[in-house]
Amino acid sequence: MIGTAAAGRPVSITGLGSRVPDRIVTNDELARLVDTSDEWIVERTGIRERHIAAPEMATSDMAIEAARCALRQRGIDATEINALIVCTVTPDHFFPSTACLVQNSIGAKGAWGFDLIAACSGFLYGLTVGANLVMAGTHKKVLVIGSDTMSRIIDYTDRATCVLFGDGAGAMLIEPASEGDDGSGFIDFLGEIDGSGGDFLKMPAGGSRQPASHETVDRKLHFVHQEGSQVFKYASRKMHEVCRDLLERNGLTVDDVGIMIPHQANIRIIKAAGDRLGIAPERVMINIERYGNTTAGTLPLATRDAIAEGRLKKGDIVMFAAVGAGYTVGASLWRWAY
Ligand code: UT7
Repeated sequence: MIGTAAAGRPVSITGLGSRVPDRIVTNDELARLVDTSDEWIVERTGIRERHIAAPEMATSDMAIEAARCALRQRGIDATEINALIVCTVTPDHFFPSTACLVQNSIGAKGAWGFDLIAACSGFLYGLTVGANLVMAGTHKKVLVIGSDTMSRIIDYTDRATCVLFGDGAGAMLIEPASEGDDGSGFIDFLGEIDGSGGDFLKMPAGGSRQPASHETVDRKLHFVHQEGSQVFKYASRKMHEVCRDLLERNGLTVDDVGIMIPHQANIRIIKAAGDRLGIAPERVMINIERYGNTTAGTLPLATRDAIAEGRLKKGDIVMFAAVGAGYTVGASLWRWAY
């Protein structure tokens, strides 16, 4: 695995914003569409409900609101942003990038930016890239946004996938750590991609391999296809390994971690990883019951809820971790700065 330990100036996460669609869809509602039940979904995934975007709301709309929310919280103007990274697998279009749409709408004049595709690890990877831009000294304020409208690429006749996903977005601002706050901020990142697992979770058509055609639509190839148990086994093992290795190389143990904030794909994956790591369950953040798997949205939404519940406070070490389609794997350590 490749690591990126903090090597330049200290950098911190200084702001956070979020947006989830208003409409909540319960398990019982899905049980009216497909052959499933609230009991099965809760027991096998931990999910009770998810938020689903209205037809007129796209990924950039949630991203824009999350971005504005983060800027408001930090009390800065969009013109101060130097770079925007939008992590998503459900962009408004292939191009222009969703980052361009967000930049224009929030008025981040003069910023550069791009979209980053790493599925469920997207936000984690975006945070790492953003931290490195600020550490290098070339950028002062980088906004990292995770936004996904998974409901647009889900087949609501497929019970194996439609119960899992929800829509949502979150944003974090990365800046140089304030003077005298040297202990705060980015500590380390460890990551790995493993393309041998690419076929187990993907959207088969719509790209250059299988362009959109009547046939691809008829065969439902523009929806998420997943071999759940394969992904489940890989994610349970890798989530543990990457966290263990990251802690080890920093001379830390789970007792040093104030809170672990894992990607929210399945409560059983999260609990398996936590158990193998030996971290106390109350120090593992879980909010999957309310949002399902929002792909690039899970980490900022779970961080927001951890702060709101008083479980993440200034000075705490937070360990983010994710495994997603690709496969993409990673974990990072930060000392929380506010
Ligand atoms: O975030 C990106 C990464 N994604 C993940 O991490 C997801 C990883 N995978 C999973 O979370 C789990 O594999 C699932 C929740 C998707 C499925 O759970 P599972 O325990 O692995 O079930 P399974 O796929 O082995 O299926 C067991 C049974 C099957 O029936 P049969 O063949 O045993 O008769 C499925 O057809 O459960 C059935 N099933 C359902 N039953 C009721 C699958 N989905 C449903 C459903 N309701 N929604």
